[in-house]
Amino acid sequence: MREARDVLILGTGIAGLSAAIVCREAGLDVLALSKADSPDETNTRYAQGGIIARKEGDDASALEADIQLAGCFYGKTEAIRRLAEEGPGLVFDFLMDKVGVTFSRDKSGGLDYTGEAAHSERRILHYEDRSGEAIQKALSAYALRIGVEIRPATTAIDLITNNHHSTDCQELYQEREVFGCFALDNASRRVDTILARCVVLATGGLGNIYQYTTNPPEATGDGIAMAHRAGADVINAEFVQFHPTTLYHKDIRRFLISESLRGEGARLMNASGEFFMDRYSELGELAPRDVVTRAIIEEMARQGTSYVLLDLANYYHGEQPIRERFRGIWSTCMEGGLDISRDPIPVTPAAHYFCGGVKVDEDGRSSIGRLYAVGEISCTGVHGANRLASTSLLEGLLWGLRAAARIVRDTVPIRSERLDAVPDWKYPVAAETVELALVYQDWNQIKMTMWNHAGIVRTRKGLERADADLSYHAHRIRKFYKDANLCRDLIELRNGLDVAQLVVGAALHNEHSIGCHYRTD
Ligand code: FAD
Ligand code: SIN
Repeated sequence: MREARDVLILGTGIAGLSAAIVCREAGLDVLALSKADSPDETNTRYAQGGIIARKEGDDASALEADIQLAGCFYGKTEAIRRLAEEGPGLVFDFLMDKVGVTFSRDKSGGLDYTGEAAHSERRILHYEDRSGEAIQKALSAYALRIGVEIRPATTAIDLITNNHHSTDCQELYQEREVFGCFALDNASRRVDTILARCVVLATGGLGNIYQYTTNPPEATGDGIAMAHRAGADVINAEFVQFHPTTLYHKDIRRFLISESLRGEGARLMNASGEFFMDRYSELGELAPRDVVTRAIIEEMARQGTSYVLLDLANYYHGEQPIRERFRGIWSTCMEGGLDISRDPIPVTPAAHYFCGGVKVDEDGRSSIGRLYAVGEISCTGVHGANRLASTSLLEGLLWGLRAAARIVRDTVPIRSERLDAVPDWKYPVAAETVELALVYQDWNQIKMTMWNHAGIVRTRKGLERADADLSYHAHRIRKFYKDANLCRDLIELRNGLDVAQLVVGAALHNEHSIGCHYRTD
């Protein structure tokens, strides 16, 4: 007789671990997988600017209005209201008081709130410019302490559903439900069948389908692709947010230069030394991200340059020295010979955040039974057509906790004969060896296609070209996937292709320019 875990969580960032902690403390048995060698290697870990928190005098309706405006009034009203009302208090109750996350303080010992673009209030808590690292480490340590089982170097391959996988034909006629997933042990290449009463997808975003991204290599859209293959609704896939400012340096992979630099005064100038943002928005440097990104692209195109400059040194109005307030950015730039407390920073946009995702309700429930999605993988409706800075960590936290509460309340066991009807993974008969050079070549082509034709500025012709190019790769990659001995790189390639096709399909379908989906035709 097969056993099912109570809760299987795919992903160990803020969303996955927040859910894991609540489920575990309610007495459930929780297994959380991370495909990285370290479970702390997540997008969460790299967050710089910070997280929106409750601040005296800051009204929930003001935050709600800021999110709506940045999202071009395309978001889901109830979800935005929920985030604005329930979210900011959790930073104190859950992150600080329970889990023990530390945030930076000002000279008088009070919490140091910072500002970011399109916020009408300085309401963001941070830890220097390494807010994500502080949150990630505290969550992991707490989760391990209370007995969440975290299994690193394990890559989920596909969800197991009753309709798709059961050997009992009667399951075809039942409501679709998820019973677990197949997962690869990266080192031994063994594929395990992990059964669970419910599955929480918390696998993050898809930045790596673009040639230039702020995201770490793990962000390849795996959960979105898995959910879509299993038949879950995925919405708003055309809305990929590009961050306006990443370091342009020949020896350093695109590295985020946080929006909080502009929140603390930094100004953007073009190659002629002209401050240009006031020509594009009355909010200047603090206009929403999509506006700043397009302004930079236009200035670069007009002047034939690959970057613009961000001057922090001459405009910084914070109280701490720059090298302390922005310690992470300062030291990375120093490695490239650039002193941000003296020199302007060459910056250029890069893919940053997926505003679309697996469609979920107020408790993170997807359109498939027993399947939840939380964090960047999900589309709760909060971000609309463009995300407001520092809402993402908060959304992951709130929906992680809400999904967990629902799981604790609702999840019922799966009858043992239904579990027994799930077959184990079938390895290919004469498996091909994976040539990594070929995998990387395919990846490069997908990334280039997405960057050139489905990026910041889109046209019908470009998107059709992307669609055709991706279809050409799809046939070859899917065949290779079927015949090969699986490894993490190949699983990611197939998922990257699937989500690239989702983004292009949605972008072609939506002929209306709005937020970060911008079409010039
Ligand atoms: P992640 O933190 O990305 O975690 C995903 C997890 O899923 C990882 O553990 C990964 O290993 C695992 N995983 C993925 N695929 C698989 C698979 N197939 N099998 C098993 N495991 C898998 N937001 C803010 O609100 N404020 C900020 O200041 C901020 N700064 C940012 C700075 C940078 C550089 C970046 C990249 C993002 C930033 N964001 C910020 C966005 C925010 O960090 C992310 O949206 C958020 O952390 C996502 O959290 P998550 O829990 O959904 O996923
Ligand atoms: C940043 O620090 O600029 C990133 C903030 C975010 O993505 O919310």
